[in-house]
Formats: sequence, structure tokens, C-alpha cells
Amino acid sequence: MLIKNVFGVDLGTSAVKIYSLRKNRLMAEKDMIALRNGTQVIAVGNDAFEMFEKNPPNVVIDRPIVNGKIADVDEVEMMLRLLLKRTDKHVGRKPIIYFSVPVNMSEIEKRAYYAICYNSSFQSPKIFLVDRPICDALALGIPLSRTRGSMILSIGAQSTKMSVLSNEQIMISNSIPVGGQQLNEAICEDLRRTQNLLIGTRTARRLKAVLTNLDRPRDEARKVFGIDTLSGLPKEAVISSALISRIVEREVVKEAETVRSFLERIPPQVGRSVREEGIFLTGGTARIPGIDRCLSKIIGCKINLSGNYELCTVKGLEEIIKHKELRKWAYTIKDKK
Ligand SMILES: Nc1ncnc2c1ncn2[C@@H]1O[C@H](COP(=O)(O)OP(=O)(O)OP(=O)(O)O)[C@@H](O)[C@H]1O
Ligand SMILES: [Mg+2]
Repeated sequence: MLIKNVFGVDLGTSAVKIYSLRKNRLMAEKDMIALRNGTQVIAVGNDAFEMFEKNPPNVVIDRPIVNGKIADVDEVEMMLRLLLKRTDKHVGRKPIIYFSVPVNMSEIEKRAYYAICYNSSFQSPKIFLVDRPICDALALGIPLSRTRGSMILSIGAQSTKMSVLSNEQIMISNSIPVGGQQLNEAICEDLRRTQNLLIGTRTARRLKAVLTNLDRPRDEARKVFGIDTLSGLPKEAVISSALISRIVEREVVKEAETVRSFLERIPPQVGRSVREEGIFLTGGTARIPGIDRCLSKIIGCKINLSGNYELCTVKGLEEIIKHKELRKWAYTIKDKK
């Protein structure tokens, strides 16, 4: 039997996550596109990431999604077309595409999701939008019709989203431009200031992923190569888990304070329900060991760590695609919200 192709797409700042119903497969690829002479696409996704910081001058590597939003319609269109094909060779005629989208988008931002699909190569697709906290809630198994107050905290690459769901709707939502990339930048900045060592954000990201532990720093260190900011010459240094964990903790504490003041602003009866249930933590940055306990200490509320991490939102789209009764959460640009 020929199954109509249905995709779920979560356009993240660090990675694009795609679910294909026909293949019943989830895939994550870096949000990157490599263009030669500004127009010719030579790589997308993980292949483009491999070229990042090593590209020749006539090749530009771009991230067409910034802060969880479409920054360059043409580039996202080119990247998505190739990534959908990578998920399933037969994108097929009239595919149905469900996009997870930020809450409270402007009309122009909504139109961008249509613009990236109305290219002839997609052959008249049908497009639906679903608010990201709803996707996360469905993946987390939060009973949307019954909850009196559930809070989701999603820490991605360039944004932290805080949302409270109550009585079948998103009651309040806020997003701050802080995520994993800001942690990488904090590591670069700290090493430059304290050790006169210049490293790239890719190296910082690797140090963060292998050395951070917010419960107790590991008895471990990594050798890195950078540039001495005083002499301009190559420099080698050994960076400890204790140092990286301290830098990351400092940033996480600042973020936790923002979350605490968000929680203080929600109506008391809803806040009570959130506190009883605990805050649901998701997103790729939630992979940092001990981040849940560190946040919990500052916010003063239990944190439930979701094992879905960066795939949480796209798994919510998968739920909507597979279960007809959940389609009520999807809307089109014509629907009044
Ligand atoms: N093991 C790890 N330790 C620390 N951070 C990690 C780890 N694995 C992934 N990350 C971080 O998770 C982030 C990516 O998470 P995610 O895919 O949820 O973000 P995104 O959806 O692309 O971004 P956004 O939601 O902000 O648009 C990156 O900043 C990455 O460095
Ligand atoms: Mg995301």
C-alpha cells in the first residue's frame, strides 16, 4: 500500500530533527549549509558541519536558523529539501509537513514556514504548525486535558523556553536567548581571560560535553591546542573538569535565577500544581550531568529530567502524526488562534 508521506520537522538552532512516517524514522542533522560563491549548495547538515571552521574562503558555512527561528528562508528551503530526501528518498507528491514552531509567532514568521515549502520541488505540500511546548508535553506524556499546571523547561542551543500549560492551553510562555552555545562562548571567554588561550567554539563544545559534571567534577582533564593571545603563537594547555564545570555552573545558576522569577510570576494555584508535579526539563543542554539538581537547588522546585533531550519536540510531532485525536493541536496559517 502506498502511504502518503508525512514528516514532522523541528527546526532547531543547532540541529534539524525530522520524523518520517513512511520510514517510521527519526533523524537529527546539524542546522548548517555550505555554499560555494554564495549560491551553489555543496553540503547540508552534518556534512556541512564537518567543513565548519575548515572551509576555504569561497565557501561560506551558514546556520540558517537563529534562536529557534527561520533567519534565511532560501537557505532553510535548500537545506530542508535535501534533509527530507536524506530521511526518505521518496519525499513523494503532496507531502504533509508538521512543523514545531515558537509560541506567539508574528504573521510574517508563520508565513516563513509556508515560504520554505512552496518551492516546486516539494510538489504542493500541506503544512501544519504545532506550538513547541505542546509537542514537548505530548512527548513527555503530560495529560493536556487534565493538567491544572505543568511547566516545561527546554534548554536548547540558543534558547531556553519556559512554558506553563493549564486547562488545555499554553497559559504563559517565555523564551530567553540563552542555551548551549552561550555555554560554549562562556568557556572560550573564560579561557581567553584567565589563561590567555584562544580556542574555537567547536573545541569549547567538546570540552563542555566531555568534562562538565555539575554534581561533582570528574577527576579528568583534556589537552587542547589554541593560540596564545599575548604572543599570537600556538599554545597547548591542559583543561580540567573542575574548571569547565565551574564555568558552566556559573552560567546555569544565572539561567536558574531567570526561571525562578518566571515561576514567581505565575498565578498561585497554577504555581502550586507546578511545584507539586515538578518542572519537566528537556532539550539537548539537559544532557549536562547534574544540571537538573543544580537548577532544582536555585529554583527551589523538583526537576523531572526527560530522557528525550533534543528529540523531545520531534517525538511530540511523531505522536500527532500517529494519533488522529491529537491533530487538534495542529493549525494552519488560516486558523484563528
Ligand atoms: N552531552 C552534552 N553535554 C552538554 N551539552 C550538550 C550535550 N549534547 C548536546 N548538548 C548541547 O545541546 C544543544 C543542542 O540541543 P537541541 O538540539 O535541543 O537545540 P536546538 O533545538 O538545536 O536549539 P534551539 O531549541 O535553541 O533552537 C547544543 O548546544 C549542544 O552543545
Ligand atoms: Mg530546540
